Amino acid sequence: MHITHLSLTNFRNYGRLELTLPKGPILIYGNNAQGKTNLLEAIYYLATTRSPHADNDAQLLNWNAAQAAEPVVVGRLVASVETLKQTHSLEMRLIQEQKSAVSQYRNFSFRRQALLDRRKVRLMDLLGAMRVVLFLPEDVQLLTGSPANRRRYMDITLCQIDPVYCRTLSNYNKVLEQRNATLRQMAEGSPVRDVLPIYTDKLVSLGSTIFLRRAEFLANISRETQRIHYESLTAGRESIKLLYLPRLSVKKSKLAARGEQDPATLAEWLETHQGQSELVSERFAKLLQESLATDIARGATTVGPHRDDWSFQLNGRSLGSFGSRGQQRTAILALKMGEINWMEAATGERPILLLDEVVAELDENRRGALLSCVTETTQAILTATDPGMFTEPFLQQATRMHVENGRVTVM
Ligand SMILES: Nc1ncnc2c1ncn2[C@@H]1O[C@H](COP(=O)(O)OP(=O)(O)OP(=O)(O)O)[C@@H](O)[C@H]1O
Ligand SMILES: [Mg+2]
Repeated sequence: MHITHLSLTNFRNYGRLELTLPKGPILIYGNNAQGKTNLLEAIYYLATTRSPHADNDAQLLNWNAAQAAEPVVVGRLVASVETLKQTHSLEMRLIQEQKSAVSQYRNFSFRRQALLDRRKVRLMDLLGAMRVVLFLPEDVQLLTGSPANRRRYMDITLCQIDPVYCRTLSNYNKVLEQRNATLRQMAEGSPVRDVLPIYTDKLVSLGSTIFLRRAEFLANISRETQRIHYESLTAGRESIKLLYLPRLSVKKSKLAARGEQDPATLAEWLETHQGQSELVSERFAKLLQESLATDIARGATTVGPHRDDWSFQLNGRSLGSFGSRGQQRTAILALKMGEINWMEAATGERPILLLDEVVAELDENRRGALLSCVTETTQAILTATDPGMFTEPFLQQATRMHVENGRVTVM
């Protein structure tokens, strides 16, 4: 698939942008702070409804527009996408409204609106219409950062190809909030014990689906990542593995005492029980039952997929804890390349690649592997401060665009 046209209004440092995009590799270059990353962020945001950078979506609005004395400020992102079967228009509106004009302190509300083929839809319905794989220099934090980062990666990636997963996850999070609120009320002595089983049952059924889907996803992407890492990136020297660590058992420290399975074997157990959600439900229900006293005391559900994690293993050791910087970078590169193949296998089409400054930090061998993956893709958008770091044959193939202060010129 590929984007044919991108239109931005009041997004970051783009006041107004109308950009026609060709197929093939596109190299966006320019000095620091001109809008290269912002352009990739806009595309990623349309595809996933999430920003890889902003903590708060209101930050995406162009700040000059947001600070103007207008009662309503709208940011607009629109992409026309061509897939093998159809064309789509994806639109996201960022709407800031002034709540009270009288107040001396201006008070704003912010909301988002999604449109697919010019019809208003839920945000979630945009997912899958345009699929992307994003490469960022800070991706290494997937290994070294918190489990929340890794869950987020899993969820965003899976949601791009599986709307059922996405709906299940969204319902799970709602039920989890309700269950946690009930647990807190119970801790305070409110007589709400009757509703707890209702939330617990729902949590078990939604959670089991999530456990199984994540296990399948990680097993598949691990195989693809392992293959690329071994064959193309380390010339058969190192073999890595992605290991799912589902929170479907008690804490590791308590495991030995109880003679329980450790998470590694649990991941395998989940993989071999695909399609047997009742077994997983049974196990999750039992675990919730056992954790009830702790959960009431903490006012929160302490087990379940919202506490999952996964890890990269090299010869059985965690790369996040023991890998060298170069080994970590290589593993992440393999993961992202694995993601492309996994998406292609799942949907029959290659996703759009977005690469922010990642080529600069790779050695010649890895750069070659990545660029050949780029040139085999329908559309890939790369950014760089200096086009000189690319080989002449690559530059011959690529469309070059120069960006300066939020304006893009096709060279
Ligand atoms: N909401 C916003 N409104 C206006 N400008 C913004 C907003 N958010 C960020 N910017 C500015 O946009 C400019 C371009 O940022 P961007 O990250 O795209 O630069 P870049 O070209 O990728 O630079 P680098 O080479 O340093 O990575 C920066 O000066 C940044 O401060
Ligand atoms: Mg940048």
